[in-house]
Formats: sequence, structure tokens, C-alpha cells
Amino acid sequence: MKKMVVGITGASGSIYAKRLIEELLKNDTYIHIICTDTGKKVMKYETDIELEQWVGELQKQHDNVVLEDNENLFSKVASGSYKFDAAVILPCSMGTLAEISSGIAKNLLCRVADVALKEKRQLVIVPRETPFNAIHLENMLKLSRLGVIILPAMPGFYHKPETLDDIVDFVVGKTLDSLSIENNLFKKWGS
Ligand SMILES: Cc1cc2nc3c(=O)[nH]c(=O)nc-3n(C[C@H](O)[C@H](O)[C@H](O)COP(=O)(O)O)c2cc1C
Repeated sequence: MKKMVVGITGASGSIYAKRLIEELLKNDTYIHIICTDTGKKVMKYETDIELEQWVGELQKQHDNVVLEDNENLFSKVASGSYKFDAAVILPCSMGTLAEISSGIAKNLLCRVADVALKEKRQLVIVPRETPFNAIHLENMLKLSRLGVIILPAMPGFYHKPETLDDIVDFVVGKTLDSLSIENNLFKKWGS
């Protein structure tokens, strides 16, 4: 079973993370969820979802999902010797992006990103901010040059979305594509 870390920060768009986790659970994946404190607050504000409660509901049906404590640097995912396959941070705030690009690893989420970088594992960052300032752009460029996939939460409209779910599914589908996980979340161009 693949092991993945899904990080959620206080950027707008935790609805993407919820959708991604639902899809990963269909894909026989062991999921470690890490959410920042602001991430939990923004999720509650934007979606009315209490993260702990929602994950608790998922755990009633799935034994392959765990909610990590972002302050727990003793977690197994904090160590390079625990072989997770990939980490995705979505949505990623500019603050967390800056910490990762500077090598600061003072919480579990940033430590996981640091581990992914040092162990050359797949790291996908889905930044959300607009407009970007030069610091944001430089931080993304730095990480991109280290092999990180920078996949901005920028929905396309060529698949003719009709609902909010269609727009969310486009970004989540692109994220799954970047992890080479088969999905039909949006109609692929030419299909
Ligand atoms: C409702 C709301 C929406 C926000 N949206 C964004 C955003 O889209 N991008 C961003 O970089 N920060 C956004 N912020 C600010 C971050 O939450 C803030 O910088 C925070 O310190 C990020 O911390 P974290 O990375 O530990 O979650 C938002 C804050 C709130 C309250």
C-alpha cells in the first residue's frame, strides 16, 4: 500500500484537500494528514468542517487514515527512515511555502517537506495566493529547481465546469495526475 502525507495549511481552499483525501482513500493509500492550526480554522470557516470530527468519521470506515499532530516531531513521518511515497501540501500558504523553501522545519508539516526534499521523494505543493509577490515567486522557483511540483490552485475552464465540484475536481484531478494516480475527475483534453 502506498503511503502518502497530505498537508493542509491556512491558505484558502481546504475543500481541495477534503476531495483529495476522499479520492486517495479509494486508491488503497495509507494517508497521514497534517493540518496547521490556521488550516483547521480556515477549513471550519470556509467549509463548516471540523477536521478532527471529519477524520473521525472517515476512520469509522477506513483504517488507513491517520490525523497527525503538527507539533509532534516524534511522529514516524518526521524521519527519513519512514518511507512515505509522496507528500502533497494543499492548499499551501505563502507562509508555509517560505518556511519550506528556507529549510525551516519547526513543525511536522515543514519537517515532512524537508524530509521529502532530502530523500528526493515526490513533493507536490499547491500554492494559493493572488497576486504573488516576488518573494512568493522566488520561493516557488527555488523549490521547483529542487524537483518540487508547483501546481497552483488555478482551475482551467476548457473542460466546461458547471458546478463548484467540477472546479474543485479539476485542481484535485491535476494533483492526482502529478502523482501518477489514475482518475476521471475532469475530462482530459482530447478524450
Ligand atoms: C480566511 C483566510 C484565508 C486565507 N487565505 C490565504 C491564502 O489563500 N493564501 C495564503 O498564503 N494565506 C492565506 N491566509 C493567511 C494564512 O492563513 C496565514 O498566513 C497563516 O499564518 C498561514 O499559516 P500556516 O501556513 O501555518 O497555515 C488566509 C487567512 C484566512 C483567515
